[in-house]
Amino acid sequence: MSGVVVRPYQAADAPATLEIFSRAITTTARSAYSAEQTAAWLGEPPSLPDWDRARASVRTFVAELGGRVVGFTDLDDQGYVDRLFVHPDTGRRGVASALVSRVVHEGRRRGLSVLTTHASLVAEPVLSRHGFEVVARETVHRGDVALDRFEMVRALRT
Ligand SMILES: CC(C)(COP(=O)(O)OP(=O)(O)OC[C@H]1O[C@@H](n2cnc3c(N)ncnc32)[C@H](O)[C@@H]1OP(=O)(O)O)[C@@H](O)C(=O)NCCC(=O)NCCS
Repeated sequence: MSGVVVRPYQAADAPATLEIFSRAITTTARSAYSAEQTAAWLGEPPSLPDWDRARASVRTFVAELGGRVVGFTDLDDQGYVDRLFVHPDTGRRGVASALVSRVVHEGRRRGLSVLTTHASLVAEPVLSRHGFEVVARETVHRGDVALDRFEMVRALRT
């Protein structure tokens, strides 16, 4: 979608990205997971300094719409995409799509041969549209709570 600007994460983005993480799980992901599952996924809220350190420890990108941070993703040195979250107020407008395009571009730029991720049931269609393929459907446990997700791979040679 035009109007989405993707740029590198900065420390000042910590509050907005933490809010997006929380809202995306408790609101958007509820279309595919129970309240018990989303609470287990969310876990205990991290402190802002811890959250910022985690975002800065990998290459994190944020998406802005109208000057407001509305989503983020990341890419580590091995080509693993850990996070992909968009604020529910700006869902289904191509924000995630713009973020995924950016990490695919970034992976190619770094000479990686594949990107890998574990995608939620909600994120799988967006990633599939960008060439990620499901390798396996798996169930992970957060405490006693089971969560289904997809292991996905994106070849970068093509
Ligand atoms: C998955 C997510 C990042 C997509 O963000 P987005 O900016 O809305 O995505 P795009 O606009 O690029 O693509 C839209 C697609 O996302 C999926 N999607 C978005 N909102 C959705 C919702 N409320 N319910 C179900 N699917 C949804 C659909 O496949 C949708 O395609 P469609 O409109 O043709 O059905 C966002 O919904 C989100 O943050 N979800 C909750 C957290 C999550 O699951 N993160 C992934 C962790 S691996």
